[in-house]
This record gives sequence, C-alpha cells and structure tokens, in this order.
Amino acid sequence: MEIVICKTKEEASRKAADLVAALLKKKPDAVLGLATGSTPVEMYKALIADVAAGKVSFKSVKSWNLDEYYGLEPTHEQSYRHFMDANLFDHVDVDKANTHVLDGLAADWRKEVADYEAAIAAAGGIDLQVLGIGSDGHIAFNEPGSSLASRTRLVSLTPQTIADNARFFEKSEDVPRQALSMGVGSIMEARRVVLLAFGAGKAAAVKGAIEGGVSQFCTASALQMHPDCWFFCDEAAASRLELKDYYAWRAGEALGAEIGD
Ligand code: PGA
Repeated sequence: MEIVICKTKEEASRKAADLVAALLKKKPDAVLGLATGSTPVEMYKALIADVAAGKVSFKSVKSWNLDEYYGLEPTHEQSYRHFMDANLFDHVDVDKANTHVLDGLAADWRKEVADYEAAIAAAGGIDLQVLGIGSDGHIAFNEPGSSLASRTRLVSLTPQTIADNARFFEKSEDVPRQALSMGVGSIMEARRVVLLAFGAGKAAAVKGAIEGGVSQFCTASALQMHPDCWFFCDEAAASRLELKDYYAWRAGEALGAEIGD
C-alpha cells in the first residue's frame, strides 16, 4: 500500500490522474473501474484537461462503474450513469458504448450482476480501479458487515450513508435505500487500486482502512491485502495516521517511479 499525502485535494487529484494517465499511455485500451461521489470529481477534471491537451485518449478505454442506486432510472439527475456522463464521459473521447454502469432498474437484479461480472471478466479484468471511501470506511456500497469476499449484488445502505448522501437530494427520504454494488471481493481483483480521500470527515475512515485491523466493519481495510493499492489523501484526511510522514516519504519515491517524475 502506498499513501500519497498532499496539501490540497487538487494536488492529490492531479497526482492520481497522473497515475491513470501513465496507464493509458502504456495501455491505451485499458479497462478502468470508475467511481462516483464528490471525491473523484477533481481527478476527472484533471483527466479531461489531459485529453483536451492531447496528452491521453479514452478512445479505446472500456470502463465499469462500481455501483448504482437501485430504483433510479439512468436519466435521473442523481443516478450514477448521469453523474459519469456529466463529470467525465461527455468531456472525453470515450465511446459511450464501452462505458458500463449497473442498471438500477433491472427487473432481475441477480441476472444483471452476474452479467456485469461476466462482462468484466470477458474484457480481461479491471486494470485500475478508482475508489472513494465512505465516512464509515465503505468502498463502493460495501457497508460495515459486508463480507470481504462479497461479489456484485443488491445491498442496503446504512443510515449514515443515507445521511451523507442526502446532500445530493432534495429530501433525505428521496435517497434510495438500496443499490447494486460491486463486492469487496470483486474490487480486490483489480490489478491496481487508486483510492482518493479528502477532508477531515474521512480521517477516521482512512485511519481504520490503513492502520486498523482487516475487518468487515471497515471494508476499505481489505485493501491492506491488495498487492498494488494507492491512497491519495489531502492532509486533513491523513491527519489521524500515526506514520504519515513515513508513508508520504516512501510514496513520493514510488510515485515518481510510476509517473516518471
Ligand atoms: P463522497 O463519497 O466522494 O461523496 O464523499 C464517497 C463514498 O461514499 O464512497
């Protein structure tokens, strides 16, 4: 696990984007796992700027998103399909037919999740998975109590997550109570994981994920078992880490080797 700690989320997002861009240069037809939420927005902006500047291209990229609210149509303003179009896909040269988000209206959700996992496998698996982290330590919608071996499935959101996400809806009653979500076990199969965490509200989750025990109570802690996992944090999110100076020093060297700094 490498933990990159930057002064601001803008700086951390730029560095995370550099890691994604390095992959796209090396493997233009990379398979990306993508995330929604407020956290990755700055990183997507940095990648949009890279595409506009001709530094990278999404032309041959395939992507699969982590999750989708269950019961929301893809055109709903708060659906994750809509989020991805508005925050990334509409602004880069990706072929939208190659971008995949779980269908929150699937009549048969079991078939939907099985087909989704099969399509990822048929594409050769995910090269790089982008993640945020919930204030309760979740990755995707793998809430506390989710098996660390879980697969893509229908999940119920905790009251904490519903409260956290209420800011995007008119009323908290409008937040869907369920979602289709990749499992922790599915996420762990990505060849590289890039997790972003910003702000003091994520400090406890980041501490638990990195320095706590591996536990289904903080599903991000499973990433301690991942062979190629990168955290990009601002100082506020990293503030509770005991060994933060050591991590930052070590990650600086590792990141330089990856992005050619
Ligand atoms: P956020 O959500 O980026 O909106 O903070 C992160 C998450 O719940 O994974």
